[in-house]
Amino acid sequence: MQKDKLVFDLIDQELERQRNGIELIASENFTSLQVMEAMGTSLTNKYAEGYPGKRYYGGCEIVDQIEQIAIDRVKQVFNCAYANVQPHSGAQANAALMMAILQPGDKILGLDLSMGGHLTHGSPVNFSGKIYKPFFYGVKKETGLIDYEMLEEKARTEKPALIICGASAYSRDIDYARIRKVADEINAFVLCDMAHPAGLIAKGLLSSPFEHCHFVTSTTHKTLRGPRGGIILMKTDFENPFGLKDPKGNIRMMSHLLDMAVFPGTQGGPLEHVIAAKAVAFGELLTDEFTVYITQVQKNAQAMAKAFMAKGYEIISGGTDNHLMLIDLRNKNITGKKAQETLDKAHITLNKNAVPFDDKSPFVTSGIRVGVPAITTRGMKETDMQIVVDFIDEVLMNIDNETIVAKVKEEVKTFMKQFPLYPALK
Ligand SMILES: Cc1ncc(COP(=O)(O)O)c(C=O)c1O
Repeated sequence: MQKDKLVFDLIDQELERQRNGIELIASENFTSLQVMEAMGTSLTNKYAEGYPGKRYYGGCEIVDQIEQIAIDRVKQVFNCAYANVQPHSGAQANAALMMAILQPGDKILGLDLSMGGHLTHGSPVNFSGKIYKPFFYGVKKETGLIDYEMLEEKARTEKPALIICGASAYSRDIDYARIRKVADEINAFVLCDMAHPAGLIAKGLLSSPFEHCHFVTSTTHKTLRGPRGGIILMKTDFENPFGLKDPKGNIRMMSHLLDMAVFPGTQGGPLEHVIAAKAVAFGELLTDEFTVYITQVQKNAQAMAKAFMAKGYEIISGGTDNHLMLIDLRNKNITGKKAQETLDKAHITLNKNAVPFDDKSPFVTSGIRVGVPAITTRGMKETDMQIVVDFIDEVLMNIDNETIVAKVKEEVKTFMKQFPLYPALK
């Protein structure tokens, strides 16, 4: 077979794009080379429906070992009793989790998408809002912080079967104990979807959801810096409350229901090449090197928020505890859409984002979401945050001046040469 020049040329172009730009999308990161290498291997050829030691296909003796390493390592990282590493993505992890513990039509309560929540937490355009009956809590207008009173009130009046915490665009820590307290009052489960801050939680830089939430889901590609994928975790396994028994009449544990909900419930064959890459990434998470990295992520985010505020930008909640911040651009008279599109021309990549109580449509928005995991992987420190903010400010303050935008693009390209990305690749 001839090498597919068309596709591989484009892959080369994407690497160049990543090298030349300042990557500020809060949900992105650059994996290590060995994580990428694990993905591009013969494991992509292997069917392995089932779980280690209990597969529906032959020839699984190697992938069994790999998947077990991924499970053992992630359990060690988060000090928890149960892990399923097969979900193909964060959305798949949430779908399986809900399938395991809910019936169609059950009520769920999550953070509103327009206030920083995620599609899979009950949005009407997502399975979670179509199959289940969603209710939402928000953030307080004055502080930008989660409105726990609203959450408690909705929980008490609607009595959802599941309360979901965790967010895609929320820069503060979460009071898991308070959420669990009201959940216990109404007999609800609590799920923390820690997709965004998981890397900070892994190293104790934010409160741990594990003590208080029955279930924890995550993506593996954001602050965890692994391949694209999902995981489902539990601090402790427990007897399923639905009285489900196996053919011998034994009560099945929650772990069994979760495993069944991933496969065969919502997925077929696991992506063993991705699971191998997860195993490698989880190994990296256990190192001191990762502790240094993720500590720097938090420092960089705080330095960046400070630099933005010094230039009169309004950060929702007035700062950040984690790796990201949400900026309301209304006082600068710029929409999120225009900011994203113009910054893109200067090779600064981020995404437009609704701010709480936004008066603009989700396609336009009043804000941008900025995250530092990727630029921290490239080696940037606090002092570099000021330079990045200066670039962004120069573009935004000259948003219709193509000459200045083009000048910043060249400056960005030169600046990024100091932070090599995958130098071992050509
Ligand atoms: C909180 C949260 N949950 C779930 C997801 C979904 O992850 P994926 O894109 O891997 O399906 C995301 C992705 O941005 C997220 O932010």
